[in-house]
Amino acid sequence: MRTIGVLTSGGDAPGMNAAIRAVVRTGVQNGMRVMGIRRGYNGLMSGDMFEMNLRSVSDIIHRGGTMLYTARSPEFKTEEGLQKAMDVCKQVGMEGIVVIGGDGSFRGARDLSLRGVNCVGIPGTIDNDIACCDYTIGYDTAMNTIMEMVDRVRDTTESHDRCSVIEVMGRRAGYLALHAGIAVGATSILIPEVEFDFQRDVIDRMRKTQQTDKKHFIIVVAEGIGGVAEMAEQIEAQTGVETRATVLGHVQRGGSPTVRDRVNASKMGNYAVKLLLDGIGNRVVASSKGEIVDYDIYEALNMTKHINMDVYKMAHEISI
Ligand code: ADP
Ligand code: F6P
Repeated sequence: MRTIGVLTSGGDAPGMNAAIRAVVRTGVQNGMRVMGIRRGYNGLMSGDMFEMNLRSVSDIIHRGGTMLYTARSPEFKTEEGLQKAMDVCKQVGMEGIVVIGGDGSFRGARDLSLRGVNCVGIPGTIDNDIACCDYTIGYDTAMNTIMEMVDRVRDTTESHDRCSVIEVMGRRAGYLALHAGIAVGATSILIPEVEFDFQRDVIDRMRKTQQTDKKHFIIVVAEGIGGVAEMAEQIEAQTGVETRATVLGHVQRGGSPTVRDRVNASKMGNYAVKLLLDGIGNRVVASSKGEIVDYDIYEALNMTKHINMDVYKMAHEISI
């Protein structure tokens, strides 16, 4: 019987559990032994793993977080760390690993693949910053959470005729901010991918809408830009509108995954194991225009993702 492992690595994302479930069920149904590796590459290096069966993944499809726990593991990036992981794979007879995480995790998967352990990556991150993938696991849930949270902030912002400057996650990427910003009708959306002028793109826009009798404002700012407290002070000083800053924080990473994330994760988990069954490794599974596809890890890591400027312009055209 062939043995494979599954691990989650980097920041957790809603839908990771659905992906683990699909990996385990597909593997077991196809006669594989599937090892659940705890806490990402840390568990791989220390051998912290257990054999999973069809029932190990019952009742997890609707849960956020990851039942396998996750970690960031600096030691794994070293030659010694990688060797420790390779030794464990040899002892356990692990021929392949499904790595659910972001691009950092895929770099680790690439290193293991180069040493002979077939790895397949599944994009699991709320940031949606994987170039080859339209929708990473967790992105849809996080956007919906942001929308719900900002809708709540809007109620109080409107009641007080205030402005709220809201920071959303995304690390260096602005996808969450842009799309959630559209969904909440933000007056301005600031993201790291697009150069902005605070006076023109925030203050002047607010003044323009004030002339049409608008009295409350939502400004969405990507984490990659930050500085919402200072922005709030500036806005209040220049427009006279009482302003509050809100950093949504880790609430964005939790919660029950949406339909889209559950289905996407299930398809990707199933697809990843099919690759391993065919003896194929060093691949990243992705969703592209509604289809599940796969790329060479090296190629995937070298791709660049761009913000759709038409969407960015549209957002600002209709939020005035
Ligand atoms: P993400 O996978 O979400 O991008 P990180 O960048 O924190 O998150 O990476 C997760 C883990 O992947 C790291 O803690 C490390 O163990 C491994 N990793 C990251 N970068 C590399 C790299 N360049 N080479 C090998 N392993 C890496
Ligand atoms: O990558 C997911 C993410 O939530 C980013 O949006 C954010 O920058 C980062 O992880 C936060 O990491 P931590 O949970 O380690 O503070």
